[in-house]
Amino acid sequence: MRPTDPDVSAEAGLLEIRQVGMDRIETVRDLNVTIFDEERIINTFDRDGVMIFLAFVDGTPAGFKLGYALGNEKFYSAKGGVLPDYRRRGIARALLYEMLDAVRAAGYERFVYDTFPNKHPGMTVLGLEEGFEVVKAGYSPQYQDYRLRFERKLEPETEPDG
Ligand SMILES: CC(C)(COP(=O)(O)OP(=O)(O)OC[C@H]1O[C@@H](n2cnc3c(N)ncnc32)[C@H](O)[C@@H]1OP(=O)(O)O)[C@@H](O)C(=O)NCCC(=O)NCCS
Repeated sequence: MRPTDPDVSAEAGLLEIRQVGMDRIETVRDLNVTIFDEERIINTFDRDGVMIFLAFVDGTPAGFKLGYALGNEKFYSAKGGVLPDYRRRGIARALLYEMLDAVRAAGYERFVYDTFPNKHPGMTVLGLEEGFEVVKAGYSPQYQDYRLRFERKLEPETEPDG
């Protein structure tokens, strides 16, 4: 656990992003129900390379982000969200940064996620701001929105000088 952006801390309490295991899945489930109004988090956790991150504000769970491997080179960020009362304080961006760091450190080459831009505009705007490109688009009759796939290549970690 480590403190993240100090600006966020000053404005909205101490923000901590922690990578957690399946033992915290009930916390994710509670957040998921509040944010998405559904019990299902993702279809299955029987996936390779599952990573789960929780955001805490002053120790209270405020958001989550989780994903898994799609083959050896690609990591798929499958779902994430922030509780309504905690939005627009940089928490989704902090979760993304932590996940990008962990995914890069694990040796993946590309980071991808899908989002529905009309239903949930936040991850479209954030993705474009953070250097992602749209690599696929199609209409989903189930969600009655376009599904955009965002992708970003991950630069290999550089060794510190000296
Ligand atoms: C999308 C979501 C995760 C964003 O969480 P957040 O913590 O409020 O996001 P951040 O504060 O880190 O926002 C970072 C940037 O993303 C963009 N952004 C975030 N929410 C936005 C929105 N509703 N509309 C437009 N841009 C948005 C902004 O550029 C923002 O920077 P700014 O606040 O300085 O303008 C949150 O709104 C949420 O949980 N929504 C419902 C579920 C969802 O959409 N999940 C993602 C599905 S792929």
